[in-house]
Amino acid sequence: MDYKKRERDRPCKTPIVTHDLTRYYGDLCAVNRLNLEVENEIFGILGPNGSGKTTTVMMLTTLLAPTSGTAEICGYDIHRQPELVRKMISYVPQDMAVDVRLTGRENVMMYAELYGITDPAQGTRSALKTLDLADRADDFVKTYSGGMRRRLELAQALVHNPQVLFLDEPTVGLDVAARKKIWHHIRYLRETGMSIFVTTHYMDEADRYCDRVAIIDKGIVKAIDTPDRLKSLISHDIVTATISGIYSGFAIPGVTYAESRGDELVFFAQNGEKALPQILDALAVQGLSILAMSIRRPSLDDVFLHLTASSDEDAGPFNLSTFRNILGRRG
Ligand SMILES: Nc1ncnc2c1ncn2[C@@H]1O[C@H](COP(=O)(O)OP(=O)(O)O)[C@@H](O)[C@H]1O
Ligand SMILES: [Mg+2]
Repeated sequence: MDYKKRERDRPCKTPIVTHDLTRYYGDLCAVNRLNLEVENEIFGILGPNGSGKTTTVMMLTTLLAPTSGTAEICGYDIHRQPELVRKMISYVPQDMAVDVRLTGRENVMMYAELYGITDPAQGTRSALKTLDLADRADDFVKTYSGGMRRRLELAQALVHNPQVLFLDEPTVGLDVAARKKIWHHIRYLRETGMSIFVTTHYMDEADRYCDRVAIIDKGIVKAIDTPDRLKSLISHDIVTATISGIYSGFAIPGVTYAESRGDELVFFAQNGEKALPQILDALAVQGLSILAMSIRRPSLDDVFLHLTASSDEDAGPFNLSTFRNILGRRG
């Protein structure tokens, strides 16, 4: 089976739509009125541990009932048509375990047979080939690296050629090269028309590989957009300084907003190069010694930290004017 050529059973422009999807665990609201529309794209849910990513994925994959609200996957309702939903999707959980006592091929074959696909042996061969595992298919999984095991899990998820693929933290615990490879495969699958719903807490990966990102914190979506548009919300340069000593916030000409992140000070300035000498002076006046300094464009980390830092002030969904107000208020 060629993933690129095979027609999908039910091509769908918006394969995931959620309506106020909500989940409580006792009093704890893990996911709070989530409204998303995911298209044919790599859609990333980006948030720290405990922000509700896994809970969201489990509801969308019919493994966990929402407390209220609902969602449609390829037009099928997760409450009323869970079996049809399951036909359209695959899910690779964060802690999925492949059987290390079997070979790669045996692991995938087991899934091919479970799914009841027409030609399990051929399906298995092509899934293994797609994930670059053909050479090692008949080796025991216990001889595989972490990256290869993750790819094997992806191969298992692919055998029935799903329309929507859910991946929960697919690169966690892998080295840089293995992560890159996983993302390369995810991008390839997107090109074949598969929609990918992926959670991660790695900002740099979301930035580089996702078409759109929802930033989630404590179960609430703070912003949804392309990584570039999210970054452009911070129309500032960022000057960081690592210092020794204690910085007591004070106004610096040209600096709109400053914050302390660990042993680093972060200054937001309309023009970083102009503000730099002013910042140096201001730190010198306070008797602080500067160990390192840099100017850069905003990253998704900066956007994330701002959105979450402002969560006490702005509990609703993110909007640009509120964000600018926050910047202004603190300047
Ligand atoms: N089965 C459960 N029972 C009670 N609380 C849970 C359960 N699963 C998750 N939680 C809580 O719900 C919140 C969201 O968890 P989770 O969806 O796993 O977040 P993430 O995947 O972003 O780390 C966390 O505060 C977590 O402790
Ligand atoms: Mg999780």
